[in-house]
Amino acid sequence: MAIFRTVAASFILGIFIYVSHQLTGYTDFSWAKRSLLISFLALLFTLVIGTFLFFWKEKDLDHKPWRDTLLNFSLTVMGYINFLVTLVLLRDIFALADNLFGLLNTQELYSSTATGYLLGLPVLMLALGNTVVKVGPKLKKVPLYFKNLPAEFDNLRIVHITDLHVSPSLPKKFVKKLVNKTLELKPDVIVFTGDILDSFAEKHQEELKTLGGLKAPHGVYYVPGNHEYYWGAEKGLTAFRDIGFNVLINEVTAIRKDGKTLQIAGIPDPAATHFGQMGPDFIKVQSQLKPDDFKILLSHQPSLASKSAMIGVDLQLSGHTHGGQFFPWNWLIVFFERYAKGLYRINGMQLYVNQGTGYWGPRLRLGTYCELTEIVLRKESKTE
Ligand SMILES: [Fe+2]
Repeated sequence: MAIFRTVAASFILGIFIYVSHQLTGYTDFSWAKRSLLISFLALLFTLVIGTFLFFWKEKDLDHKPWRDTLLNFSLTVMGYINFLVTLVLLRDIFALADNLFGLLNTQELYSSTATGYLLGLPVLMLALGNTVVKVGPKLKKVPLYFKNLPAEFDNLRIVHITDLHVSPSLPKKFVKKLVNKTLELKPDVIVFTGDILDSFAEKHQEELKTLGGLKAPHGVYYVPGNHEYYWGAEKGLTAFRDIGFNVLINEVTAIRKDGKTLQIAGIPDPAATHFGQMGPDFIKVQSQLKPDDFKILLSHQPSLASKSAMIGVDLQLSGHTHGGQFFPWNWLIVFFERYAKGLYRINGMQLYVNQGTGYWGPRLRLGTYCELTEIVLRKESKTE
């Protein structure tokens, strides 16, 4: 842990030096203004390093509101730094392009006025990103067509919720809004694909009770994501069972309609194995699958899709990526995640990746939104 802290702190310090130099090095700021700006940046970076690396130990269960306030403030500062560093970096890239090819007019890019904009623009971006979150979950209807879907399940509506990240930084009213919106849809099935709880279950009884209000005629199904394991998965999973969710750990269950069966399978996140828990076991899942039934698999990680396709799954529902959540990660996510968001076809299987219903870290989304997916299963006619 000490090594991780040293490396992380050095990396953040490096970014601080780069940003401070690029923001003050080329301007005609007075010595006093320059010192003030560097002090301001030092304060922001110290707050982030201090909070997350040296102070934050989320070990006690006592609710201390001042800790939540500090955490949220530091996360907001982290969001500001993220945008500031990105803009500073983009300015340097433009300037480099100008130096190399002379294509852009970048003379004004390093003026004091431009630097002022660079410092102010992240505040605007934070406000915009925060508004996106405040709006709450936005419905996305996704019709998916399958030739082998039994006619009995044509038009089956599945509400897919993922990556809610219930934690001290997620307002309780966000959870209430989500539950109301989901119930208004009157779905046939509700599925959760992990990272729903990102804190101790004991601290979030109210949100769990609210989530317990979610009911659907064919049931509510849940698999854990990596974040559930960081806070003691056993208690977390028990909490979800207690509110009536069907927790699927390498298990397969079925829903029946007019004599036909549709199987719903679930696997845990591979992070489980780091905490002495059972990881994804495709052999165990496969042994429970029936060749003639339509098969849906819930997996937090979309990256396991090729394995799911191999065992004959028809549709995998996933989350995890958050679609990058905010700029510039909404662009860069494709370098980290093969299946970043939306629909993919993998060896005859369809994979749908929801970009996340809640958010992680700073209370903001920019370039993505809080997605509440309504999957509608459709039977594709043979002639289509
Ligand atoms: Fe997540």
